Amino acid sequence: MDTVEIMDDPDCDPDMLRRTYANFRYVNAVVSGLRHTYRHDIRPLLSAEVPHTLLDIGSGGGDVARSLARWAARDGLRLAVTGIDPDARAHDYATSQPSLPGLTFRRALSSDLVAAGERFDIVLSNHVLHHLSAGELGGLLVDSERLSRALVLHGDIERAPLAYLGFGLGTWPFFRRSFIRDDGLTSIRRSFTRAELAASVPPGWTVHREVPYRLMLRWSAPPVTLTAARQTGRAHA
Ligand SMILES: C[S@@+](CC[C@H](N)C(=O)[O-])C[C@H]1O[C@@H](n2cnc3c(N)ncnc32)[C@H](O)[C@@H]1O
Repeated sequence: MDTVEIMDDPDCDPDMLRRTYANFRYVNAVVSGLRHTYRHDIRPLLSAEVPHTLLDIGSGGGDVARSLARWAARDGLRLAVTGIDPDARAHDYATSQPSLPGLTFRRALSSDLVAAGERFDIVLSNHVLHHLSAGELGGLLVDSERLSRALVLHGDIERAPLAYLGFGLGTWPFFRRSFIRDDGLTSIRRSFTRAELAASVPPGWTVHREVPYRLMLRWSAPPVTLTAARQTGRAHA
């Protein structure tokens, strides 16, 4: 990979970056498949009586964590959502938005939470994998296994010529005053194909293809019940 996203440059234009965080929610609404993930993978694990916890790693502007907290509350389900991001600019943007009950943002790396012995029922990320080097990807997967009592879901773009063309055409009239279009195209170039991602992950992880041009990397804790795992404080050795 010979190019990086503009937003990963610590010296990039702060106003453009702020608008990029603000625009993520429109892009995610179309391309992240988050609603599907919530309905099919997350909601079935939640309860109106028993509180559960969810960690969003690399929460950026915070819209994924925010949507999940809002949907669970709307469905009458008890879910505490924590978004983490080490980037001060992302953290500042996420915490500048209106607060929601059960939603917290922290400036931290996944490895910080592992070091502190923290655990969450569900761990996920959106559009983080393609930002990472091979070593960082391996570290993120180890961290997320350690942080999760039940389920890990890392969703990302799938690299494909039609995805590139579609994103390029679909965003052409919009997002001129943010990095959304340039970084989105770079992201597609940097992202994995299904075969590449499957070859990059350790045993126990599976890669599923979702629409439109999405890959979902999934890990489930060995089958002890979530309730038992929460009582003992661990779901796997
Ligand atoms: C493109 S942003 C994704 C934003 C958000 N998830 C979304 O979908 O809009 C990727 C973010 O991942 C963060 N990140 C990368 N590695 C991380 C790690 N190990 N722990 C926490 N955050 C991480 C970066 O700081 C960056 O802000």
